[in-house]
Amino acid sequence: MAFELPKLAYEPNALAPFISAETIEYHYGKHHQAYVNNLNGLIPGTGFENSDLESIIRKADGPVFNNAAQIWNHTFYFDSFSKNGSKVPSGRLSDAINASFGSFESFRELFTRSAATLFGSGWTWLAVKEDGSLHVIQESNAGNPMKNGLKPLLTCDVWEHAYYIDYRNRRPDYIKSFWEIIDWEIIGNRF
Ligand code: FE2
Repeated sequence: MAFELPKLAYEPNALAPFISAETIEYHYGKHHQAYVNNLNGLIPGTGFENSDLESIIRKADGPVFNNAAQIWNHTFYFDSFSKNGSKVPSGRLSDAINASFGSFESFRELFTRSAATLFGSGWTWLAVKEDGSLHVIQESNAGNPMKNGLKPLLTCDVWEHAYYIDYRNRRPDYIKSFWEIIDWEIIGNRF
């Protein structure tokens, strides 16, 4: 079964000025596509020919894990945004954020710091443990908290390819914009 690049739910220019159409062209069109192509090239003969991405992420390591996780992580990341989405969490997710972090503002500060201080390439995650508690987690490279049994809710890609076209080396400015395009209704539906 060959993997395919999933379609975006919005036009390439929908997230501008926070994320430009040019960044989408490269980040989604080139990088995300490359992980799909790489995985399709790696899978034959590994025993993962009929596996879904989640199973591969849980069981594989090395290049197969890296490319499978990068496909999943990017799909999850790009699916978190919309042009005019809900700017704050509501309902059950809002309650859980308050219970785990004190307030939405405290959570935002913690997540922002985690994304800003992650050394090198990787992802910052909001994920939920089986006991219902929420956690902010730094993962290097292709890391994904589902590998440790947590369920991802939100992620910020801090690989340089996510922001270098629009923000050059200014990762903090990119993270600031990240908060403007998250659609919290989508995040709430994952919870
Ligand atoms: Fe990326």
